[in-house]
Amino acid sequence: MLCLVKSSGRPTRCVLALSERVIQVKGLVKYFGEVIAVNNLSFEVRSGEVYGLLGPNGAGKTTTVKIICGLLKPTSGEVKVFGISPVDNPIEVKKRIGYVPEDVVLYESLTPRELFEFISSVRNLSMDVSFKIGSLVDAFNIRQYYDSPIATLSTGTKQKVAIIAALLHDPPLLVLDEPLRGLDVRSSKIFKELLSIHIENGGAVLLSTHIMELAEHLCTRVGIIDKGRLVAEGTVDELRQLIHKAGASLEEIFLKTTEQEEEVAEVVNMLREAFGRK
Ligand SMILES: Nc1ncnc2c1ncn2[C@@H]1O[C@H](COP(=O)(O)OP(=O)(O)OP(=O)(O)O)[C@@H](O)[C@H]1O
Ligand SMILES: [Mg+2]
Repeated sequence: MLCLVKSSGRPTRCVLALSERVIQVKGLVKYFGEVIAVNNLSFEVRSGEVYGLLGPNGAGKTTTVKIICGLLKPTSGEVKVFGISPVDNPIEVKKRIGYVPEDVVLYESLTPRELFEFISSVRNLSMDVSFKIGSLVDAFNIRQYYDSPIATLSTGTKQKVAIIAALLHDPPLLVLDEPLRGLDVRSSKIFKELLSIHIENGGAVLLSTHIMELAEHLCTRVGIIDKGRLVAEGTVDELRQLIHKAGASLEEIFLKTTEQEEEVAEVVNMLREAFGRK
């Protein structure tokens, strides 16, 4: 259930009841021609969770994320976001999601100021949003680029602009596809703190990443997918039990559950033979 809370002088914030089902994915299948990108995938994300969607390159993470955001249609299966189908009602779903895509594409001729003003007007956001924009622009230290065309900004600065753009409408669900790409250490720290605040406020996060330390540090649960299928799911502790190794890192868990551990060891041996000191 959604309710609105207004605290004095602060923007209106969306607060979710604890443990509300935010994302429901059931038997999701997506083909691109002959290629099966998502193969009978099922998982749930609840409010208060940072759910990590992990998997090797080509596993189907971005495809799944785009279906959840209403940007791609599934071949079959069911997806609900706050009980709403992104296939039947993508506009209502998009209102509730802050999406940071894998390949950030912004209006390059606009400045960050113009982009944020454009988003605020399209989304019909109240005047309160300028307080939020100002706070985020300062938090990410991009005030000096505020009036420069986006085309002239560095990769990391563009990423910061994309993150701010995704947060403006106070979405209760953040869907983040490799969000730390190009971010410096300070900005990564700020971003992780923003996610913590979002969760403390009862929001939910779907985070697709290859950075195992980030997932281990931030995610309440992770789902590991391989060739479009869910191969393991749970808290990091539950996954350690699954592979019978107390203290295993998420990297170890990942390589084991995706059956890449032995192959990696063989490649390392081959590299030592080929390039090691004779
Ligand atoms: N538009 C498309 N047309 C054809 N095939 C596609 C398309 N998008 C994705 N695929 C294929 O679907 C599969 C899953 O791709 P996807 O981008 O979802 O993987 P991913 O897990 O996000 O990978 P990465 O970690 O590299 O970002 C891959 O085999 C990919 O080549
Ligand atoms: Mg991807």
